[in-house]
Amino acid sequence: MIPESFIQELLARVDIVDVVERYIQLKKAGANYQACCPFHAEKTPSFTVSPSKQFYHCFGCGAHGSAIGFVMQYAGLGFIDAVEELAQSAGMPVPREAAHAQVERAKKAPLTELMARAMKFYRDQLKASPKAIDYLKKRGLSGEIAARFGLGYAPDEWQALEQVFPDYRDAALVECGLVIENEQGRRYDRFRDRVMFPILDQRGNVIGFGGRTIADVKEAADGASTGTAPGPKYLNSPETPLFEKGRELYGLPQARKAIHESDTVIVVEGYMDVVGLAQSGVENVVATLGTAATGMNVQKLLKQADRVVFCFDRDSAGDRAAWRAMEVSLDYLVDGKSVEILQMPGNQDPDEFIRENGREAFVNHTRTATRLSEFFIRELSRQSNLSMAEGRAKLVNDAKPLLQRISAPILRIQLAREIAVRAQVSQAELEAQCGLKPLARTRYAPAQMQRRPAPQSIEHQLLELVLRRPERAGRLPWDRLALETAEGQALRAIADAFEHGELPVDGVGLLLEYFRGSPHEAMIAGMVTTLRDDVDEGALETVFADALTRLHQASLSQNITELNASARAGTLDGEGRRRLADLLQAKSRATQPSKVT
Ligand code: UTP
Ligand code: MN
Repeated sequence: MIPESFIQELLARVDIVDVVERYIQLKKAGANYQACCPFHAEKTPSFTVSPSKQFYHCFGCGAHGSAIGFVMQYAGLGFIDAVEELAQSAGMPVPREAAHAQVERAKKAPLTELMARAMKFYRDQLKASPKAIDYLKKRGLSGEIAARFGLGYAPDEWQALEQVFPDYRDAALVECGLVIENEQGRRYDRFRDRVMFPILDQRGNVIGFGGRTIADVKEAADGASTGTAPGPKYLNSPETPLFEKGRELYGLPQARKAIHESDTVIVVEGYMDVVGLAQSGVENVVATLGTAATGMNVQKLLKQADRVVFCFDRDSAGDRAAWRAMEVSLDYLVDGKSVEILQMPGNQDPDEFIRENGREAFVNHTRTATRLSEFFIRELSRQSNLSMAEGRAKLVNDAKPLLQRISAPILRIQLAREIAVRAQVSQAELEAQCGLKPLARTRYAPAQMQRRPAPQSIEHQLLELVLRRPERAGRLPWDRLALETAEGQALRAIADAFEHGELPVDGVGLLLEYFRGSPHEAMIAGMVTTLRDDVDEGALETVFADALTRLHQASLSQNITELNASARAGTLDGEGRRRLADLLQAKSRATQPSKVT
């Protein structure tokens, strides 16, 4: 880990304008700098760099961040790599803890080099193997597509890699998963007689392989051996220091441009689906790597595009995978982004479908994808017998943990409403039962407007003030923050992080990095972008105190309203009446300006 203090120092030392100008040309426009956005195609510049906030923002595509964020996004680097890159350019020695990361990277470098050499070998072998070429041709692939995906062939030999690795005993060959050593210490190539699909990371390094057998696979598919080419239909690299399956997506580097252009990413199950769709001209496609979609996958996908379409085969494995994709998506969904589930018709997978029906049919079919919200309601309803009270109770219980996971406020309200109708309870009853805060006073800003939300809400004002001075988070009464607005949720997350001692309070740049990749990122970044510099800090202190008071009052009033309603309905017990009296008194005290704290 890099110490927070170093990152702070680094951000203070580098100037974002210099950093961005290393990559693209900027033009001065008033207090800021402008350019055509490097992250999406455009003709008029909507990409802005603010020297005073040390922050960039694109009004077109929403890209935003600090100098570190820019290097991450532009160069496709991870956080630590970006910090190291910047530190180097600023001539700042990376502190000891960070040196650790450098050591890690230095350790990985030789492995990456081995993988690159193996890929080259497999590619050369493909050119020399009529059998493998013939296989790819039969599957409808052109040489161009094979080259684009770096496809290769691992020959049907036990130690073919010896040809390119003179030191076949090198431990690194085992470490990166190319070579297997058995108990007798005998070594052999992991991949034999297989078409090879290299898996690249964001920087284009080969970090793993998938290999498809080209022997008869009728039985091999379930792991049974058929003569010379034993093993499963697909064999993948094991997890290695380079390759963490749940993190990577196959085909992302090749798909990136098409994803940006269409603002949609299609997620399929297999290597061949990615390559086959690309062959037919659908290029915005990636695959999860032999595992169900992970939270990390979803997070990465939602960063790439506003619409994510998960594509599943129509079998029980596909159904389970679809449910799993829905579950993990709930954690990362943001209002205004769309996650969809697409079932392939018949028994075809995307590759088979597009070969038989063509590009247009496939694209049309993607339009029939089920929205996550619809899938959620449909699947949950199907799992319970709603004609019986027990079944309806089951529905509520099943929905509870899922509703709690939803971080997008509007979606959560809508789904709670749908579940309530089907369970034949009121929405308030459902929300109470599921531990969701009841619908309250605040207005909500529609997705498109989230970057400039309703200015009059208390939560909006508080958030702005906390962003100006993150240490104010310590004064937020987290239990009184309404969660129905994006601002309220962001505030709650900030207050939580503060409670746990995790919130970086030295400037908004660090705070932004902390929330990178979270559902609150866009909201927070949007607000930072619109913060004005020319304000009197002393006056803001007063505004903050005042907003806290109003929040307190609003919360009192809401509790009073609820208790009054119960009183009218005749369900208020003695305890409730005492609370009501206390609240009324507290409210009258709080309204006196002299008591404002
Ligand atoms: P499928 O069996 O659906 O493969 O596995 P496919 O993509 O249709 O392959 P083709 O068309 O027969 O060549 C889908 C994915 O599941 C993983 C692989 O990632 C594969 O791409 N898988 C499948 C394995 O890891 N091992 C296997 O034995 C089978
Ligand atoms: Mn297939």
